[in-house]
Amino acid sequence: MDTLKTNVLYYGDNLEILRKYIPDNSIDLIYLDPPFNSKKDYNILFKENGGVESEAQIKAFTDTWHWTQTAENTYHDIVTNGPLKVGQLIGALHDVIGQNDVMAYLVMMTNRLIELHRVLKPTGSLYLHCDPTASHYLKLVLDQVFGPTNFRNEIVWCYTSPGHSKRDFQRKHDIIFRYSKSEGYTLNQQFVPYKSGIHVSKEGEVLAYKGTVKPSRALEYEQRGKPIEDWWTDIYSADRVRKEMLGYETQKPLALLERIIKASSNEGDVVLDPFCGCGTALVAAQKLNRRWVGIDITHLAIALMRNRLKDSFGIDAEVIGEPVDLASAKALARQDRYQFQWWALSLIEARPLGEKKKGADKGIDGVIQFIDDPSGKPKRAVVQVKSGHVGVNAIRELRAVAANDALGIFITLEPPTGPMQTEAVSAGFYHSPGWNKDYPKIQILTIEELLHGKAVDMPPQTQTSVTFAKAQKVSKKEGEQLPMQ
Ligand SMILES: C[S@@+](CC[C@H](N)C(=O)[O-])C[C@H]1O[C@@H](n2cnc3c(N)ncnc32)[C@H](O)[C@@H]1O
Repeated sequence: MDTLKTNVLYYGDNLEILRKYIPDNSIDLIYLDPPFNSKKDYNILFKENGGVESEAQIKAFTDTWHWTQTAENTYHDIVTNGPLKVGQLIGALHDVIGQNDVMAYLVMMTNRLIELHRVLKPTGSLYLHCDPTASHYLKLVLDQVFGPTNFRNEIVWCYTSPGHSKRDFQRKHDIIFRYSKSEGYTLNQQFVPYKSGIHVSKEGEVLAYKGTVKPSRALEYEQRGKPIEDWWTDIYSADRVRKEMLGYETQKPLALLERIIKASSNEGDVVLDPFCGCGTALVAAQKLNRRWVGIDITHLAIALMRNRLKDSFGIDAEVIGEPVDLASAKALARQDRYQFQWWALSLIEARPLGEKKKGADKGIDGVIQFIDDPSGKPKRAVVQVKSGHVGVNAIRELRAVAANDALGIFITLEPPTGPMQTEAVSAGFYHSPGWNKDYPKIQILTIEELLHGKAVDMPPQTQTSVTFAKAQKVSKKEGEQLPMQ
């Protein structure tokens, strides 16, 4: 294994990536927010240009850590080859829980936690973000992987959000377990302003105080703030911080990640997020001058993150694990047609349309929106992606589908036939009023051409990425604190 590469995104299963690319004792801080065993599909909502949520829902990934042959094999592997205590625990839980989704989730997580413990520096810390559905089981596993004496905190993050049950108390908190690898861990204590209790005049004179603090120390305490407890109520969930929202359902707030990173790392340290979704931990790390490594198995998440890093900091992040040539593109298409489609769309920065396609959008896989008209009316290039055999009928269909749009783009893994090219040429041109220029109405691009840098011939997009919901520019200044508890 080479030395650790930082400020990179890895596309793939984190278990394989960790084993292949991340050396022992190389990471200062790990934050992980794995998919819960919630039996639902995670969806990504993309935003239209004006910031309105679009109809397009994408089945980003199915949270299917079911009891399959892989889970069975992983179970045997942990029991027979894993650290002794971990094997014993998993064997006992298997006896009690049985072979179901919860057990599958636990064995998959155990395998990954063993690898994460390996890559952590002796001074490092791990924060595992979960909810009460599985937190009690996960803590048993963490105790065995890290050692019970390395348990540091169970942080309860409280928030409010819509949704109301009449038969239970409202479930509005997550659990974040904090473990260290040894006693020599990093912790920069964090403070928040006191809400009330000590009142100091502008000149620093103590006017009144409540509680047990002596007046002589009150000023010092007031200036320093209150050491943060293990329950956090001052951070809003990402869906309430509208300017942060990128449409990724499980997106976490930047303030939460900033607190964790400030507390358990120093400038220049390396932060790893092996389930990084739309990259909140990476953005917080970059903002706080830490190095970072992100891993995600979904190409949509990778595309979102890449755009977010570009929009927030102007960074063009390197992605490892994406197809780099025709052979690896073919391998991805064979392995997963949808991932291939999303990856192909990202080559031209097109927005995937997802599964809920209505009426005229049937048959379209993605779109690029652009404005080339003084009236500001958005126009579309509609995109189809094909990984299998293609013929002239596919181009006829695209012509029909793109009839009401500016352009039709056909991306194909296999080379187009002569009749396909003739059919595309016979579609004529789209005239852009803003640029006073003609562009071929139907364009065929092969994956090989795209990998060699060929681009769609279309009017320039007015912003870098109007297609994705845009991330706010992040300043290196400290973010605003939200109202206190
Ligand atoms: C709960 S989301 C993380 C959200 C993230 N904290 C954020 O703020 O955007 C979990 C992520 O884990 C990814 N994932 C699931 N299984 C994975 C695996 N085996 N390897 C890598 N990523 C995985 C999913 O694609 C998803 O993006």
